[in-house]
Amino acid sequence: MSAPSNARVLPVTILGSEPLAPGFMRTSLACPDLACQIQPGQFFNISVPGDARELLRIPMSYVGADPSQGTVEIAFRIVGNGTRRLAGLPTGTRTDLIGPLGHGWRYPEGMRRALIVGGGSGVAPVMALAGRLARMDVEFHVVQGARTSREVIYENEIRALGAARFEVTTDDGSRGTKGFPTAVVGGLVASECYDQVYACGPQPMMRGIAELCRKAGVPCMVSLETGMGCGFGACATCAIDTVNGKRGVCVDGPVFDAEEVIW
Ligand SMILES: Cc1cc2nc3c(=O)[nH]c(=O)nc-3n(C[C@H](O)[C@H](O)[C@H](O)COP(=O)(O)OP(=O)(O)OC[C@H]3O[C@@H](n4cnc5c(N)ncnc54)[C@H](O)[C@@H]3O)c2cc1C
Ligand code: FES
Repeated sequence: MSAPSNARVLPVTILGSEPLAPGFMRTSLACPDLACQIQPGQFFNISVPGDARELLRIPMSYVGADPSQGTVEIAFRIVGNGTRRLAGLPTGTRTDLIGPLGHGWRYPEGMRRALIVGGGSGVAPVMALAGRLARMDVEFHVVQGARTSREVIYENEIRALGAARFEVTTDDGSRGTKGFPTAVVGGLVASECYDQVYACGPQPMMRGIAELCRKAGVPCMVSLETGMGCGFGACATCAIDTVNGKRGVCVDGPVFDAEEVIW
């Protein structure tokens, strides 16, 4: 199958990894062809060497890219065999990825203020977005949902990017508001005059935020993380129901208008 869009198989070298929080890693990759193309909200499918039984690549978003250095940073939660092996790859490991894939976040004309909501590992895909909004001089607020205070990630980076407001919710109440991000998003969308809400996280969180935004009449985009096979439209593993019929998360998303998704 020939490549859709400008996705290609690209060589990549692991530059280094370090723990970000319990169960979370941040990894730096050298991949100049990806660094100069990938846009916030897009993703790539990386091959993790070391286990010949594992045939599928791992879909991954990115936190930031430096085209001048040819580097891309990712952050991920270790949930299974693939992410465990990715976290353990030594510096200098060479592999490949397919990317950039999918369609990223969109920026409505005239946007002045936006709310970004990231839950769990969904914080990674919204970091590149926060960087883009900062460069566009759009005022942005951030709500981060974590299981516990120890899993709040990238706080310094989010503040350094200039978030005008940074709220934390934790499942166990060890930091910020006890509960899920929906516990604070309802009040914010009702009072803060956002032009756009952006959300990435667990499906129930995004469904809840979509509903709050619908009631408040605020446009909302979500980045969906379905299971994936190929990542480029060949297998239909990632199909979802939308008001426009079946859509493939890997080619039509992963970013969708929340109102398009049949939750
Ligand atoms: C477009 C896209 C972007 C992504 N970006 C990131 C990212 O930036 N950071 C990050 O931490 N993760 C991200 N993910 C999720 C990541 O791809 C999965 O966690 C990974 O593929 C799991 O592989 P594994 O072999 O370690 O676990 P597996 O053995 O495949 O699965 C282990 C467990 O995790 C569950 N699981 C697997 N994939 C997902 C998923 N997509 N959503 C929810 N549960 C899942 C499985 O049901 C199973 O219970 C993204 C996924 C998609 C589709
Ligand atoms: S993952 Fe194969 S079509 Fe989307």
